[in-house]
Amino acid sequence: KDEKIWLTLSFGLMMIFMLITGYQAVAEGMEPPSNTDIIDPQKVDQTAPFDKPGIKQIGDKEYEVVMTLQVFSFNPGNIEVPAGSTVHFILTSKDVVHGFEIAETNANAMVTPGYIQKVTQKFDKPGSYLVLCNEYCGAGHQAMSTTITVK
Ligand code: CUA
Repeated sequence: KDEKIWLTLSFGLMMIFMLITGYQAVAEGMEPPSNTDIIDPQKVDQTAPFDKPGIKQIGDKEYEVVMTLQVFSFNPGNIEVPAGSTVHFILTSKDVVHGFEIAETNANAMVTPGYIQKVTQKFDKPGSYLVLCNEYCGAGHQAMSTTITVK
């Protein structure tokens, strides 16, 4: 008689484990993609917003810059914003790991292929800000730079 109780109990436990596992699988399956900041590095040109790199005004003294990095350039380069602007950079790399550093500011980020990097920087003082790649990315690394002009 005891045997039957143990059998029933262990069967019951097994069912509970199966239900938990099944529930977890379903719950995980229903979750949205856990990281929406992933991008196919082979298809950057076809993937929004990188299909249209450029600068766009999104508010009063607020800009969005969609930028791609690749050996050995920033696209778009030489952007211009009015003094006092806040600029939201949305960045990705088309090939290898690059850096995105804006001299004279705290903006400094690694831009890795397959990921979207976001950097926000406010430019109060007019001037020409040097943008540098600070991750070694090949023979032209030293020359990989552009400028942000604040007027
Ligand atoms: Cu790009 Cu160093």
